[in-house]
Amino acid sequence: MIILAPSILSADFANLERDIKAVTDAGAQYIHVDVMDGHFVPNITMGPCVVSSIRKITDKILDVHLMIENPNQYAEAFLKAGADIITVHHESNLMFDDIVDLVKRYDRKLCVSVNPETDVTQLDRYADYADMFLIMSVHPGFGGQSFIESSIDKIKYLRKKYPHMNIEIDGGIKLDNLSKVVDAGANVIVAGSAIFDTPDPKLTVSKFLEGAL
Ligand code: DX5
Ligand code: ZN
Repeated sequence: MIILAPSILSADFANLERDIKAVTDAGAQYIHVDVMDGHFVPNITMGPCVVSSIRKITDKILDVHLMIENPNQYAEAFLKAGADIITVHHESNLMFDDIVDLVKRYDRKLCVSVNPETDVTQLDRYADYADMFLIMSVHPGFGGQSFIESSIDKIKYLRKKYPHMNIEIDGGIKLDNLSKVVDAGANVIVAGSAIFDTPDPKLTVSKFLEGAL
């Protein structure tokens, strides 16, 4: 059984409640929130106030992906806003020990991610303190890009080394490559455009969940 994490980056920001309700009614377990600061990635999206508003309308897991240069500076604001999972990037100005302490203090979960150009073995150093690893299968910054094939070997490496860990994949996942990433060992699947850019996101979520059985 996979965990599906629809990315609201591709939702209609003027109708977030409607879009979140559609995907959670259909069985999506997480809501993936892409936070971008215009420095770590060439795009700007949403901040803690959006997370706090979403927190009021869903009890699903809020999976907050921080694509920001200084995660230590902002992580607490996202935890206060109601994030359940905080994802930080290996490539950012990360002070990992401090983030571990902070997330533990709030009794939430911590995930560490690597970008496509980063060697997956860089994640090994975080294994004792992370609850989840995230493999970026596109260059972070925008929805709707094509899946980078070399991500498959990264997932396989992690699944072999960490059989019980949650392994999340993010970027370019569609119904037609879903089974490939699940077979490789990913169990938390982020999908943005493949869900929200379809006429019936609710139906698409059902197809994703059935497709990964
Ligand atoms: C990209 C974001 C992704 C994005 C995925 O930087 O981290 O979560 O929303 O979008 P799709 O599924 O369209 O590739
Ligand atoms: Zn993301």
